[in-house]
Formats: sequence, structure tokens, C-alpha cells
Amino acid sequence: MRFHVMTLFPEMIGYVSKISIIGRAAENGAIEVLPVNIRDYSAEKHKKVDDYTYGGGAGMLMQAQPVYDCWKSICSLVGHKTRTVYLTPQARVFTQKDAMEFAGDEDIILLCGHYEGIDERVLEEIVTDYVSIGDYVLTGGELPALVLIDAISRMVPGVLSNSDSGEIESFSDGLLEYPQYTRPAVWHEKEVPPILLSGDHAKVEAWRYEKAVERTRQRRPELLEDK
Ligand code: ADE
Repeated sequence: MRFHVMTLFPEMIGYVSKISIIGRAAENGAIEVLPVNIRDYSAEKHKKVDDYTYGGGAGMLMQAQPVYDCWKSICSLVGHKTRTVYLTPQARVFTQKDAMEFAGDEDIILLCGHYEGIDERVLEEIVTDYVSIGDYVLTGGELPALVLIDAISRMVPGVLSNSDSGEIESFSDGLLEYPQYTRPAVWHEKEVPPILLSGDHAKVEAWRYEKAVERTRQRRPELLEDK
């Protein structure tokens, strides 16, 4: 899967995509992260990409022309119309279900805004999905884009080493994950729940399910409403 990231700060994207699980996935070819600098597409001689907003008000807005030309160039590289996600707090919140759906695409374009946003007219022409990562405002779309790259990549076959782990963890069954323990068996006078040492696989599974439900009820009760 290829992530084409339209940004004014390509260095921010490059760094994270070289380390840990995402870095390994990029190295073995399961994913590719391709930052594209929107500024390179500015038709102005000083490579300007922003201007004042019509109607007044503080702050600058990214102009339509460089954003559109950058997007056109990526689309012609891909060879067909490509899902284009604009990261913005003015949108619904991204979920695990979206991560699974987006992971089915071979190419995805992530558009990162800066300043006060982007001229609405270009958004109308190119954006297929508006996505927020939470109800708070960040200074730009780069961190949200990295959040999407991480969440989507781990749903791409071959990215996680144990092919099961994507299924078991929080949210894919609508529950938070059960508590887990590793050695030593006693730490700060706290024992690991004895059932986990019993070797009885069925009992361990039943205990984990029960704890997952309990944790979900305590921490995110609204997730149980649909169940
Ligand atoms: N850009 C700024 N804040 C954001 C958020 N919360 N989600 C997605 N994109 C953003």
C-alpha cells in the first residue's frame, strides 16, 4: 500500500516512516510512504502557498493552485482517481473501522493543512474523505496523517509479524483489550492472576473475555451500547 502525503513539512513524515514497525514494513515493501512537498507546485516565483482570507479575519489560508497541481501530479503517477483524505478537526473522528476499510486501497492520498486551512474550492474538487483524529486542534495535519499511516498500515497483510495480533487487540471486536502480564510472577507484592498460569487455554480465553468486557464497561461504557 502506498501513502502519498501532501504536506509543507515532508521531513516530519519521512522520519517516523523509517523507524519501528512502520519502518520495517516500508523496508520489506508492504507499505511505501511518499511525502510530497506542496510548495514544489507553487506557480509563484517565491514559491508562496498561502494568502489572506477573503472577508477578513486573522491568519493565512493555503491557496488552491499549489494544492490542486500537487494532487494532479500524484493522481497521474497512480494512474487513476485515488482516495484523498483531508485531515481536519472539522470532520468525524477516525475509527478502527476506517483503518480497516482504507487498508483495502492500494494507494491513498493524505492531505495535510496548515495555517488556518485550505481554500474550500480545491477541497470540493479533490477530497473524498474528511477525517479528524479527535476533538482538539493541532497546528497542522502532519501528526494526524502519521496517526492514520500507523493505524492503516497495521491492517495491511504482512505488516504485523503475528498475523493474529491485529484481530485480537482493542476495537476490532468493539472491546478494549484485557490486562496482560509478563515475568516476574510477583512484583511489588502483586501476583499475576493465577488462571493465567494454569495452562487451561479455554479458561484463559474466558477470563480474558470477561476482563475485556469489564474494562470496557469501566473506561468506555458507550462502546457497549451497540453490543
Ligand atoms: N488538523 C488540526 N487538528 C486536527 C485534528 N484534530 N484532526 C485531524 N487534523 C487536524
